[in-house]
Amino acid sequence: MPEHNGHTAPLLDVRGLTVNYGPITAVRNVSMHVGEGEIVALLGPNGAGKTSVLRGVTALVRPAAGRVRMAGGRVDDPSKAVALGIAHVPEGRRVFPGLSVRDNLLVGGWAVSSRQARLREREALVLDLFPRLAERHEQRAGQLSGGEQQMLAIGRALMSEPRLLLIDELSLGLAPMVVDTLVERLVALNRTGVSLLLIEQFVHRALGIADRVYMLSKGRVAFEGTPADAARTGAIEEAYLLGAGT
Ligand SMILES: Nc1ncnc2c1ncn2[C@@H]1O[C@H](COP(=O)(O)OP(=O)(O)OP(=O)(O)O)[C@@H](O)[C@H]1O
Ligand SMILES: [Mg+2]
Repeated sequence: MPEHNGHTAPLLDVRGLTVNYGPITAVRNVSMHVGEGEIVALLGPNGAGKTSVLRGVTALVRPAAGRVRMAGGRVDDPSKAVALGIAHVPEGRRVFPGLSVRDNLLVGGWAVSSRQARLREREALVLDLFPRLAERHEQRAGQLSGGEQQMLAIGRALMSEPRLLLIDELSLGLAPMVVDTLVERLVALNRTGVSLLLIEQFVHRALGIADRVYMLSKGRVAFEGTPADAARTGAIEEAYLLGAGT
């Protein structure tokens, strides 16, 4: 995997991000980056601030401090995030249950293009990545299994032709075999050049595919390094134990 070597600017560059909800500080002074082509895992116990980091990155919440740059441009609102090549698969998937698989995908594409040919081309790539969605094309999203809904949420995000995909809780509520399929598809997607920033509750699964990992604890970066470093130092266990005490 290409790694950020300090000479070229990273694809995503987050500096000093702080996210508050009223009086609550969910993210404190977090700096992180994702290089072109990298898979980066964002880990941490419940309430550590993982989702809030993603919301700050896409400007779904306005950061109290810090700045987010993507491909050299400043992300100052959610539409700018999309325009600069970030797509977000939210916690809980949030597919539109009453719309067909096809229409869910089209909604994901509208942000970048209304040209039919381009949308169809893009949709073909998504259906190629997830053949199950092709089989369910006319079905309403609300009737899909959990795993299929996650495929649809990822597919919808891919319709905007992102260079970076943010995925919040890939495997939540899904059977291990389904998660294996999703992970395998994401690795295939990454090989096409799409970078990934992945929140995943099953730490070892995330470490298995990640180039680098950030460990959050109580809103701060408690560890940053390779999966091998994490294993050697025991940093992951420590952060989960500390976080679990609050
Ligand atoms: N909309 C909100 N209003 C107030 N507090 C919030 C809001 N969203 C999150 N928080 C608080 O911010 C902190 C970080 O929450 P966040 O959802 O980012 O954590 P997380 O690491 O994604 O947790 P989980 O693993 O449970 O998804 C928590 O203390 C949470 O209670
Ligand atoms: Mg979360």
